[in-house]
Order: sequence, then structure tokens, then C-alpha cells
Amino acid sequence: MEKILVTSALPYANGPLHIGHIAGAYLPADIYVRYNKLRENDVIFICGSDEHGAPISIKAEAEGVTPREIVDRYHHSIKQSFAGLEIDFDNFSGTARPVHSELSAEFFLSLYNKGYVIEKTTEQWYDPVQKRFLADRYVEGTCPFCKQPGARGDQCDNCGKLIDSLNLIDPKSKISGETPQLKETTHWYLELPKFDQELRDWLDTKSEWKDNVKNFIMGWLNEGLKERAITRDIDWGVPVPLDNAAGKVLYVWFEAPIGYISSTIEWAQKTGDPEKWKKYWLEPDTRLIHFLGKDNIPFHTIIWPAVLMKQDLPYILPYDVPANEYLNLEGRKMSTSRNWTVWVNDFLKYFDGEYMRYYLAANAPESKDSDFYWKEFQNQINNDLANVLGNLANRVFAFSKKYFEGRIEAPKLSDLSKRLLNEAVSKSVNISDCYKNYQVRKAISLIMELARSGNKYFDETQPWITVKTNRIKALETLYTCCELLRIISVVFYPVLPASMKKLRKMLNLDHKFTWKAISEIVTEYEIGDVVTLFRKIDDEEIELQLQKLKSEDRAESSINQKPQIEFDDFTRLDFRIVKILEAEAITKSNKLLKLLIDIAGEKRTVVAGIARSYQPEKLINRKVLMLINLKPRKVMGVESQAMIMAAHDGEELAILEPDKDVPSGSEVN
Ligand code: 2FM
Ligand code: ZN
Repeated sequence: MEKILVTSALPYANGPLHIGHIAGAYLPADIYVRYNKLRENDVIFICGSDEHGAPISIKAEAEGVTPREIVDRYHHSIKQSFAGLEIDFDNFSGTARPVHSELSAEFFLSLYNKGYVIEKTTEQWYDPVQKRFLADRYVEGTCPFCKQPGARGDQCDNCGKLIDSLNLIDPKSKISGETPQLKETTHWYLELPKFDQELRDWLDTKSEWKDNVKNFIMGWLNEGLKERAITRDIDWGVPVPLDNAAGKVLYVWFEAPIGYISSTIEWAQKTGDPEKWKKYWLEPDTRLIHFLGKDNIPFHTIIWPAVLMKQDLPYILPYDVPANEYLNLEGRKMSTSRNWTVWVNDFLKYFDGEYMRYYLAANAPESKDSDFYWKEFQNQINNDLANVLGNLANRVFAFSKKYFEGRIEAPKLSDLSKRLLNEAVSKSVNISDCYKNYQVRKAISLIMELARSGNKYFDETQPWITVKTNRIKALETLYTCCELLRIISVVFYPVLPASMKKLRKMLNLDHKFTWKAISEIVTEYEIGDVVTLFRKIDDEEIELQLQKLKSEDRAESSINQKPQIEFDDFTRLDFRIVKILEAEAITKSNKLLKLLIDIAGEKRTVVAGIARSYQPEKLINRKVLMLINLKPRKVMGVESQAMIMAAHDGEELAILEPDKDVPSGSEVN
């Protein structure tokens, strides 16, 4: 029995999951885990949400909520997506939990005490308007390598290179849009060059790794390892555990992978055996396998192993890092900011999660980028699943019920039947190798060959004729097909767990089964209730998805629309007509006015950024549109208890007034 610890890259808790995530890091891992569970290996599957870092604080700032609110919202949404797709972790934690912070601090200190972390004062981007340092992700500019605009301060999505934000061309602050200034700040750096030889020696033992992963790493090593700052100037994260580091946190990429361990610790605690995590992380016979998308390769194959190497406890290093390439959509690079993607929770409103599993597994970007095409999705579901496998099951079961009351006993088998079943058993060995080597596409094509050969066999043996001339022959066809379907139910289970359980139910077989059982012949079947295994997808359903995609595509539209919201989201906004009673300038600000408003007799204070367009005295007694249920926010020390609505065109603002008189407090919708 092998001991295997499988992880999937921790998804950022700053947005919902889309098909690109699933194809890269989650589905391949889930399939691998299910396969290993069938093989009765000791395998656990660990993940959690990545809850720190600039993307989350940026989003929180943009929405005017706390980072914790963002994290809780998306942790929940992500879990829902995983449940709908049957991606079944043994534990799904989150990195904003105390066990994770404690462990991350311990990791930092181990490196620090051993002399692998040094303190340096350098210049860093500083936003002169916001008066704060800008962590990498808060700066955007043109990539110094490929010259593509829109590169983030830490990594370029276009060429995949890691960037030192100081080298960005034409940098801009993501918060204020201003050009940042350079200012001195102190940070702690991991001295990666010290690890060069140790990493090379270790990577030399990894000749079996996927080529795409090896090439990526060699490129990195050959460019020369550089010191990397592992702390940041933001306030959402794990505090740097040193006395002189107030206000600094650990860089999210330093602490996120530690989440694999803290989540395992949490798992062990939940199982009632809190020490159990050590059996996986500290014993060298564990195979640690990290599934991820290719943008995560350097962090998992260079920085993370270096961090693990210098801990006080003898942590194991990654055994394999099967990274996948990217999934494109309808021939175009996926882009969440342009909404050019398929969101999992949205997909699940229309289709069974197993359909996504099948299509993404059959077209997985294992060694090169692949594509999601809606039309192809329909064809593959209808042709492979419904017309081939579903049809085989349906005709065998319907026939068995009609002519044999569902009781199918093993007769003597002809060479033709034996050949079909021997072929299936021997193919199951190849399929097993495919799963073992992360070649799910090939596994699926072998499985579909089995199903096709079943249909061919059914056609050739013509049970609809033999049932009238030689019933035992018809029985032989049905029995052989049931055996074949039984084998398929095992080998296809890692990809389609629910459908294969459904298939087994019709075969009246146990839901607890193992790979080993493939060769354990069943001599008698009692067919249960027959249900449709796979429903077909209509053209209209696909048209709808294509239309949705195109209408929501922000690249095609010049109006730069924000993501669509549900009607329910809209109804949560409480817009009212209110009356301005008083207005005065806020000293020290040339943008802001302080207003006193009346909402049907209730008085509130509002801070409004309209000073450049309106003199305070011109506003008195006017009735204007406001959003009144936005949580109060302090602006320049004044609590603002509603928000004025104004149209803006560059610098000029225009407040919105009703075109006939209505009472103050009137609802607007
Ligand atoms: O790229 C990402 O989505 C990161 N949140 C992955 C982190 S993987 C690991 F290090 F936790
Ligand atoms: Zn680039």
C-alpha cells in the first residue's frame, strides 16, 4: 500500500471558480485521488482557500467591506462549486485560521534563525495619494520582458515571467491610478541563491516529472536564482514574527503552501488523532503530489522546497508536481476581468457537474493548452456519453428486463465473448497506468473504446434475433455486456463517480468496490430499475450559453460594463430621494463636502466627493438621489451614512434630481 498526500493549489478566496481552475488543479487531482482510493492506497486529499494577499485586500477596498467578508463569501462559493463537481477533499481549510498563522510564523523563524533570511532596506513603490507602500499586486504596468501592458507587479500573465515590480515600465498604482514614487522600506528576503546546488541536486532526481514542468524549472535555474522578499507592507496577512516588523506581513506566496500542512493538521484534529498529520508530512515514504496550473510551477518547485528544506522538523519534499497548461475558451485566452470564462456555479445551474468533469478530463491541458468549445462540449456529451456508453447500458438493461425479467445468469461463453472480456481486463491495466501517470485523456479514450466494442459486440451477436431462435445465445450477449459494464463502472469511476454509481445500481452491485475487483467475475445479475445514465444536450441549450458568453464579453463592448449581478443583488440596494438640509466644505479636502440630509424626517450626515462641481450653498434644499443602505464609512474623520449618486464625465460631476417634485424618502427602483 502506498502512502500518498495529494494537494491542489489553494484557490484565492477573492472570486468564484471557473473552468480554468478546475481543468488545471482540481479535477486532475480528484481523479488521481479517486483512482488511488480504488487501488486501496493510503491517500489523503488536502486543500483550502488562499485567504491572504493583495488581491483580497484590493477587492475588499473596492467594495468597501473587510477582507474577512470577502474571504468568507468566496470560501463558501468555492466550496459549493467543489461540491457540485464532486471534488471531494479530505479537508478544505483556509489560510486565515490561527493554526495556519502559527505554523507560518514558525516556518519563517526556522529560516530566519538558520540564516537564510536577511533584512534589507530598499526602495519600494509608494502611492503619494493614498500615502502607503504598494505591494507588488497593487502596481501594474508594462511587462519588462514581453512589453505587454497590464502586467502585475509580481508576475506577467502574458509571458509567465516573474517580475520585480521596480522593473515595470510605466507603473501605475492600482488604488489611485497615480504614478507611484520610490520610497525606502525594510523587508526580509529569502536568500534563494544559497539553495542553488541543493535544489539542482534534488531536481536531478526528478527525471520522471512532466516535460513542461522540467523545462519551466530549468529556465528559472539557468537565469540564476535571486533573493526574494518574503514580507510585504499590507495589513491583511500573517504578521512577520519579529519585534522590528510592525505593520508587515508574510508574503502570501511564502505562507500559502504552508496551508497544505496546516490544512492537514486541521484534518488530523478533526479525525480525533491530532498527531496523524505527521505520518504524512514527516515520514519519507509519503509521496507528496502537488497538482496545479502552470503559473504556480516556480513557487512549488523552487521556493517551497527551499523553505521545506530548512525547517526544524524533517518535512518531506514534493514527490511530483504534475502541473497542467492553460485551458482556452472558444479559441481565446480565458480572462476573468473580461468575463470570458465559464463560472462553475453558473454552469451547474444548467448542467450536471459530471458533464463538466467528463469534458474537461477528456480535453485536459495535460501537455499543452487545450480549449473549451461549447459546441464540442455538446457533441462529446451526446456522442460519447449518451450515444455510446448510455446507449450500451440502456439497450442491455432494457433487453434484459423485457426478455429475461432482468435475471441474467452466466452461460458458457463463446470465444467472441471471452475475447471481449479479456480485452476489457487487459485494457484496464493500461487504463490504470494512464491514471498513475496523469494521462487522463488517454484513459478516457481507452474507456470509450471499451464501450464502443460493447456496442459492436451487441450488434454483431444480434440478441433481438437469437432471443427468438436460441435464447441462451441472447443471454450470453446480455451477460457479457453486463460484465463489460461492470468493468467500465470501475475504470470510469475516477472521472464520473456519480454516474458510475448509478450504473452499478442498475447492475445491482455494491457501491463499495475496488480496482482489484475488476477481475472478480460476477456470475449472476439481477437488473435493478433502469434509468437514463446521460441525458442529451439540445442545440438551444448550447445557443443560450454562447449568447450568454457573448453578451457578457466585456472585450467586445466599449462601455466597460461591470460583471452582471442577479436581480436579488439589485433589490438589496436601497435608493431614495433625499433632501439636502445643510452643506459645508470639509477643511483639508478640496473634493469633499459634508451634507446633512433628510430622509422622510430622519437626519443623516453624508460625505460627498462633489466639491469640485458644487458650491455648498447651491445645494441647500435640493432633492437628490442617494443610496441609503451602504454601511456607514468614515471619510476624513466624518462618518458618512449614505452615498450621493452623481454622473461623471472626467472631472465634471452631475447630481441626479427627480424631474418632478416627490417627497423626501421616496423609494427609487
Ligand atoms: O494561483 C493561485 O490561485 C494561488 N492562490 C495558488 C496558491 S497554491 C499554494 F501555494 F497554496
Ligand atoms: Zn510579459
